[in-house]
Amino acid sequence: RGRPARKVPGTDFDKVPPNTNDAVTIPPGYDQRIVIRWGDPVVPGAPKFDFAKQTAAAQEKQFGYNNDFVGLIPQDPLGLRSLLVANHEYTTETHMFPADQYDKNNPTEEQVRIAWAAHGLSVVQVTRDLLRGGLHVVPSRYNRRITLNTPFEVRGPAAGSQYLKTSADPTGRRILGTQNNCAGSVTPWGTVLSGEENVNQYFGHAGEVTDPVVAARLKRYGFSGAESTRKWERFDKRWDVRAEPNETNRFGWVVEIDPNDPNSTPIKHTHLGRFKHEAAAVKIARDGRVVAYSGDDERFEYIYKYVSNGKYKPGKSAHARRHNSALLDDGTLYVGRFTGDSPAGEIDGSGRLPSDGEFDGVGEWIPLAAGNKSFVDGFTAEEVYVFTRLAADKVMPTKMDRPEDIEPNPVNGRVYVALTNNSDRGKAGKAGVDEANPRNINRNGHVLEFEEIGDATSTKFAWRLLLVCGDPKEADTYFGGFDKNLVSPISCPDNVAFDPHGNLWISTDGNALGSHDGLFSVPVTGPERGYVKQFLSVPVGAETCGPVVTDNVVLVAVQHPGENADSSANPTSHWPDGGNSQPRPSIVSVWRKGAWGLPGRIGIR
Ligand code: FEO
Ligand code: CA
Ligand code: CA
Ligand code: CA
Repeated sequence: RGRPARKVPGTDFDKVPPNTNDAVTIPPGYDQRIVIRWGDPVVPGAPKFDFAKQTAAAQEKQFGYNNDFVGLIPQDPLGLRSLLVANHEYTTETHMFPADQYDKNNPTEEQVRIAWAAHGLSVVQVTRDLLRGGLHVVPSRYNRRITLNTPFEVRGPAAGSQYLKTSADPTGRRILGTQNNCAGSVTPWGTVLSGEENVNQYFGHAGEVTDPVVAARLKRYGFSGAESTRKWERFDKRWDVRAEPNETNRFGWVVEIDPNDPNSTPIKHTHLGRFKHEAAAVKIARDGRVVAYSGDDERFEYIYKYVSNGKYKPGKSAHARRHNSALLDDGTLYVGRFTGDSPAGEIDGSGRLPSDGEFDGVGEWIPLAAGNKSFVDGFTAEEVYVFTRLAADKVMPTKMDRPEDIEPNPVNGRVYVALTNNSDRGKAGKAGVDEANPRNINRNGHVLEFEEIGDATSTKFAWRLLLVCGDPKEADTYFGGFDKNLVSPISCPDNVAFDPHGNLWISTDGNALGSHDGLFSVPVTGPERGYVKQFLSVPVGAETCGPVVTDNVVLVAVQHPGENADSSANPTSHWPDGGNSQPRPSIVSVWRKGAWGLPGRIGIR
């Protein structure tokens, strides 16, 4: 079967071959169970989900739509009980409602309110079912929905900024809701960070703004056009940019949720900058300062890092959580520049390795602002935080191929970045290749690793590409130097996570190789470095999100199953309920049969 003799702990399973099953397909010897689906109850009193009879009041109490990031926060040493936190990235109304109920040109106010309630996050307590295996949701005081109606506190140096004030909030310190929450992370202090990503799509009439300064800022963030697709601006003028231009500035932040305190007010942390945050993930530096990494997920956008001034207090008490959260509000924001070490002529856009055998080099973090001090000419500090993309443009960072998730590896200390794809690289009028983004028309994406030189607070780092993704039969792919005859094809890396052994797990979105998206493992050290193996695949039209990989269980969020259909009248997927049912975004748990409940024996040994 072409498997090397040595088995890397955590990756001893038989590869799932590329396929187009309308199912979650897992390796032989494994079992799976749905944890929660769109519409399942979260908060007490939630009615049973009824696709044909939805209400906003019901959706406020039910699991939201399009689960993306999943965080699992154990509440005891064995993880018998945990808090599961999920992002609900976006709504697709033509798939959420019966075709004869939803007119995309004339949504009803109730349908719009359902969409507001279907966004945000869910917190549920889950227990390990020691008899049947898998995780299941239990009623608890922690269970909570956060939606577009939930008040958030604005923190950090842009709190109260003139650019955040609206008629509904003259203080610029209190924002209703969060949206387009894509990926995220669990912090060392047990809270969740979540990135507000493609927030521009929710606003109407941005193209009609005439003030040239405001219009340029809107344009740089992708706000454009007349009516929005969802037409929310008809029901609340905060979504109409002509009426409330600053409302656009109140999204695009990293938010923090404290799942252990169901009464806590969620936070928007302005010191981490405003852009299309895929996510943010924290590493504790040797001296105790907190470092947060975040990518701006759009073609040719940048990678950012934040370093706190204050020091981390170990522990997960309410006091430690409050202290550590505040570290994200006082520090320095940087943007990354990646420099290759091979002659430019050797990076020819073909994706073939340069003569030194690696896509690699060094990099630096360029400071943008610290507290109320700006390092960018022509920008005040508050402008750096609110219009971060425009400020970063001034200091020549590296334009990356869509930076998605970034996570520090808790075992080897390096940081891993999924660069999902960039179909515009090298096109006329667009940036050409560089060693960190070495392929023109990059359809399959790549994965970069870097190591800070000295410590996580350093302004210098060394980097190299771990994977140049695609069909391993193609010459433009690279699998960390591992034998390409043995690896699984992989395309469009999106979310990344680590198992307890330090193996990298990658979930994909947008597989350009003709098969479905999936979840893949890859050792990052030792003789199997680069040995990509597919662990599971997802149903028709779906993207693989989450993921969580512990000693006992793998969790994936199956986002937008059946999204390739034109509407709910012609579903292309019937997952997970089968028959003629409508598809429902859901979280799935997977484990190795017979090993459930034994620590160190995850699905994965
Ligand atoms: Fe929502 Fe960057 O994927
Ligand atoms: Ca090189
Ligand atoms: Ca993503
Ligand atoms: Ca994506």
